[in-house]
Amino acid sequence: MKILVTGGLGYIGSHTVVELLNNDYEVVVIDNLYNSKEEVKDKIKAITNKDFQFVKGDVCDKNVLEKIFIENKIDAVIHFAGYKAVGESVQKPLMYYRNNLDSTLTLLEVMNQYNCKRLVFSSSATVYGKPASLPIKETFPLSTTNPYGTTKLMIEDILRDIYKSDNDWSIAILRYFNPVGAHKSGLIGESPNGIPNNLMPYIVKVADGELECLSVFGDDYDTVDGTGVRDYIHVVDLSLGHIKAIEYILKNKGIDEYNLGTGNGFSVLQLVKAFEKVNGIKVNYKITDRRAGDIDACYADSSKAKEILGWEAQKGIDEMCKDAYNFVIKNK
Ligand code: NAD
Ligand code: UD1
Repeated sequence: MKILVTGGLGYIGSHTVVELLNNDYEVVVIDNLYNSKEEVKDKIKAITNKDFQFVKGDVCDKNVLEKIFIENKIDAVIHFAGYKAVGESVQKPLMYYRNNLDSTLTLLEVMNQYNCKRLVFSSSATVYGKPASLPIKETFPLSTTNPYGTTKLMIEDILRDIYKSDNDWSIAILRYFNPVGAHKSGLIGESPNGIPNNLMPYIVKVADGELECLSVFGDDYDTVDGTGVRDYIHVVDLSLGHIKAIEYILKNKGIDEYNLGTGNGFSVLQLVKAFEKVNGIKVNYKITDRRAGDIDACYADSSKAKEILGWEAQKGIDEMCKDAYNFVIKNK
C-alpha cells in the first residue's frame, strides 16, 4: 500500500512516516520545507533503515500533485501540510486561510481526479472552542476562537460535504490534543524557530538555558492548582493513531471524527514538576497574566478511537518529558 503524506517532514508528519515505514507501507512525502528541513528525510531513513520518495513541492501546486498521482498509485493520503501557529493566524489571517484551505482544496481535487478517495486529516481539539464540560467527546458543539482553528473547522465541514456528495470517500478526521515529545532516537522532534508559543518547547528551552524563565500564564483558573490543564499526548502515540486510522479507512467507507488524546489532564505546574523530576533539572518559572483566549482545562474522551480504530495512547507524562528533552540535548 502506498501512502502520500503531505507535510511529512514536519513534526507529527516525520514521526508518522517512521511508523508507516515500520509497518511496511510505501511512502511518498510532499513538503515545501516552510517549517521543516530536508535533513529530516535522512533522519527518518536512519531510524527505519527504509527508503521513501520525497518531493519538495507545495500542496497548493496542482501540477506537482498531479505528477505524484500519475507516477504513483496512491492508495490513501495523510494530510498534515498547513500552518499551525494560533497567534500568527490572528495577525495574518489571509496567509492562514490561503495556505490551509488552498492546499486542502487542491489536494482533494487531485485525489478525486485520480480516484483516490481515502484521507486522514489533521484536525485539532481547537475545534471545540471553550468546551462546556469535560472530558470532550466528538459530539460536542464545534466553534473556534482564531483563524487557525477556523481553517480546521472549515476543512472538516468541506470533508463532511464531500462525503455527503459521494459516499465512496473514506475519511478519518483526527482531532489532536496537545502533541509533545519526540522519537526515542533523538533524531526527530519538534524544533520551532524563535521563541516557542507552546508550553513544552518553551520548558525545554528554559531547561537548556536558551531561555531564562517560563512565564506561567495565570494561576487563577478553575483547576487543581490554578494553572491551565491540557491533555498532552506523546507524538509517537499520536503517529500510531494515524496507522490505525489508515488501516481503518483502507477497509471501511464513511467519514468519522476521532479525538486523539490520553484522557489525562496535567496542569502547567504539574508538567513543570514532572519535567524537573524526570530530567533532574530545574525549570525557572514565574506566574504572569493569563494569555488571551486560553481556557481553564481541556482533555479528551478518546474512547471512540479505542472502540473503532483500536487505538489507545500508551506513553505517560514522564516519557513525554524525557523524550522532549533528549531531542534538544542531542540536537544542540
Ligand atoms: P509542522 O509545521 O511541523 O508540519 C507541517 C509541515 O507542512 C511542515 O513541514 C511544512 O513545511 C509543511 N507545509 C506547510 N504548508 C505546506 C504546503 N502548502 N505545501 C507543502 N508543505 C507544506 O506542524 P505539525 O505540528 O507537524 O502539525 C501537522 C498538522 O497537524 C498541521 O496541519 C497542524 O495544524 C495539525 N495539528 C498540530 C498540532 C500541534 O500541536 N503540533 C495540534 C493539532 C493539529
Ligand atoms: C495551543 C493552541 C491550540 C493548538 C495547540 C496545539 C492557543 C491559544 N491554542 O493550545 O489551538 O491546537 O496549541 O498544541 O495558542 N502556557 C504557559 N506558558 C507558556 C506557554 C503555555 O503557561 O509559555 C500554558 C497555557 O496557558 C496553557 C498550557 O500552557 O494552559 C498549554 O499551552 P500550549 O502548549 O500553548 O497549548 P494550548 O494552549 O492548549
